[in-house]
Amino acid sequence: MALILGLESSCDDSAAALVTSDRQILAQAIVGQNEAHRPFGGVVPEIAARAHVEILPGLIRQVLAEADVSISEVDAIAATAGPGLIGGVMVALLAGKGLSLSSGKPLVAVNHLEGHALSPRLVDPDLQFPYLLLLASGGHCQLLEVRGVGDYSRLATTIDDAAGEAFDKAAKLLGLPYPGGPAIEELAKDGDPQAVPLPRPLVGSGEPHFSFAGLKSAVQRAVAAGTYKPADIAASFQQAVVDCMVDRTSVALEKSDAPTLVVAGGVAANRALRSALAELASANGRRFRVPPAWLCTDNAAMIAWAGAERFAAGKCDGLDAPARARWPL
Ligand code: KG4
Ligand code: ZN
Repeated sequence: MALILGLESSCDDSAAALVTSDRQILAQAIVGQNEAHRPFGGVVPEIAARAHVEILPGLIRQVLAEADVSISEVDAIAATAGPGLIGGVMVALLAGKGLSLSSGKPLVAVNHLEGHALSPRLVDPDLQFPYLLLLASGGHCQLLEVRGVGDYSRLATTIDDAAGEAFDKAAKLLGLPYPGGPAIEELAKDGDPQAVPLPRPLVGSGEPHFSFAGLKSAVQRAVAAGTYKPADIAASFQQAVVDCMVDRTSVALEKSDAPTLVVAGGVAANRALRSALAELASANGRRFRVPPAWLCTDNAAMIAWAGAERFAAGKCDGLDAPARARWPL
């Protein structure tokens, strides 16, 4: 059994976690920065990076104390090395390197997307490779066949905005706070998903790629028209995104015979999306898995877990591991 310390700071969440290779989460701590970025309607990279510098070291000390372990008892240190906001990425990666250097424990430089991709296996010992993964977050919207640790095949990506980005932009247009996903989901409860006619970009096309920019512009026009209730716009927008995701995923299912469909990333916290994808999976004779909402949004337990999977496969990194703003899986 290996004990892994995971560190995350690639966007606006500072997080540390201690996870074992047999799936115990010994301790985890996370501090978000929603309040700091709210006035700007999105994450300001400079503010985020400075906050990580102030917050992350305290979280590392906190999880070690909570689990009552010293750094010498940890088997490896896993830190997100990208992709993300480069100033933030450097904070966790350099903290991980410092701990690795001082303790002599190996460093695992984790791709944040791999953290999301492997996260369902942390809570589900029965989830075997391969699985078809819809990875939908603030920065990414992809369909991947996950065949093994480090073995990913990308079937589709977005040609413009990510799904979470679309939620955040639509929320801003509606005057809702950042992050937009949870705010739109809440407002949509009181709205009619058929009230506002909105486009479904790329629906019906033969390749499973995504596009959300046109949807955002249509929301902008609906808001400007001044004739629709905000709740109806929120509900109609959410329905349009769900319709696009279901259609795109159904095309990917035709291209993959993986027995399980998995959705992960922050947008996977959305209940309308979860239930629509569950239906799609069952209609296609596939199992459906989605991690709990806390594991869908950014956290360090998923980084520690990806670190545990890589460590078990002998995939460690040197102290010269680069921080990468862009790093496709
Ligand atoms: O994975 P994540 O925490 O950070 C990134 O790696 O990007 O995803 C954050 C994104 C944000 O765009 C947020 O609006 C969206 O996930 N999100 C949601 C929900 N909760 C978070 N989108 C739709 N419905 C939700 N309930
Ligand atoms: Zn993420």
